[in-house]
Amino acid sequence: MAENMANMVILGIETSCDETAAAIVDQTGTIHANVVFSQIEEHRPYGGVVPEIAARSHLDHLDNIIAKALRDADMSFADLDGVAATSGPGLIGGVMVGVMAAKAIALARDIPFLAVNHLEAHALTVRLTDDVSFPYLLLLVSGGHCQLLSVEGIGKFKRLGTTVDDALGEAFDKTAKMLGLGYPGGPAVEAAAKLGDPTRFKLPRPMKGRPGCDFSFSGLKTSVRQTVEKLPPGKLLDQDVADLCASFQAAAADCLKDRCNNAIEQFQSQFPHGDTLVVAGGVAANVYLRDRLEQIAGEANMTLVAPPLQLCTDNAAMVAWAGVEHMRLGNTDPLDFKPRPRWPLDPDAAPATTIVAEMAGKRGNNMGSNLRKTVE
Ligand code: KG4
Ligand code: ZN
Repeated sequence: MAENMANMVILGIETSCDETAAAIVDQTGTIHANVVFSQIEEHRPYGGVVPEIAARSHLDHLDNIIAKALRDADMSFADLDGVAATSGPGLIGGVMVGVMAAKAIALARDIPFLAVNHLEAHALTVRLTDDVSFPYLLLLVSGGHCQLLSVEGIGKFKRLGTTVDDALGEAFDKTAKMLGLGYPGGPAVEAAAKLGDPTRFKLPRPMKGRPGCDFSFSGLKTSVRQTVEKLPPGKLLDQDVADLCASFQAAAADCLKDRCNNAIEQFQSQFPHGDTLVVAGGVAANVYLRDRLEQIAGEANMTLVAPPLQLCTDNAAMVAWAGVEHMRLGNTDPLDFKPRPRWPLDPDAAPATTIVAEMAGKRGNNMGSNLRKTVE
């Protein structure tokens, strides 16, 4: 049984978006290998991730990446006690490539297969790096997700809020695209913002002051576009770009602050001694946002814990670690497990619903009064 193993060693595989990654992590949290191959160059000409190209690229690279991870760790397949793969949510073609490879290894070596939820892997990373104990409040901010969750145990999440439209990473990426900063957008916006004036452009703070913990970023993105359109056409100066990036980042941080404050209140009413705020996902690599979140946590007498930068964006060490956590509990998966393009962390959460008509009314246009937009 897994629980009796001296120090189990897990191979993790990540292929849910545009990183092909393999890592080897043991039960003590030692990362023996962490190999990430970024497909950025293959997607750059299209300004975003092309699912078909991603899936084919995972197929081309995954075997070599796994072989490199084994070499880096100075191990062979015989040293593995289990193999974990991101099995959703994500771009399904890529997810299938990783899952099939993991199942093949599990079958050939007669070791357990662990189907890992990519979001849970992000959520548990701080237990690998900082040994954080449950419960904690989690802000999960990536290219596809923007959620606040109370993390109460392995596989035990309560969603307090989610985005009703764009994820924050998506807003960063779209802002970068509008400003000609290319792909991927988050790091480019952060770099440009360092030289900018965050007070020059008055951008909205969607949802600020509203009850609850849901997010909305599409209005902020639209406002960036309208601001760009008002500047002299074709003459966007470097300073304009820097000021817009800084203004965008400050607006995003204010939104996070407002939503996190509500979430902290809800979290601490259930867990009065809960004193840890965790930020995870690709956007957590943003140092400006990390600093702002540190202040938010401090004001509530909480401590902010954020993974090291290279473990914020997609990687397989987090997948291997989620595998360790599940294997310790004996939660292994059958070889006929079906990859899940959608896999909410809290299946009982009510869909976030916003009345688009209400927002449209405020903007004074004539969208249908019963038009509702629902997001999972
Ligand atoms: O977690 P991740 O690697 O992939 C998903 O699961 O989505 O997150 C990728 C997202 C992208 O939208 C990217 O622009 C954003 O994280 N990101 C950043 C930064 N680094 C990555 N956003 C803001 N600032 C950064 N430094
Ligand atoms: Zn991710």
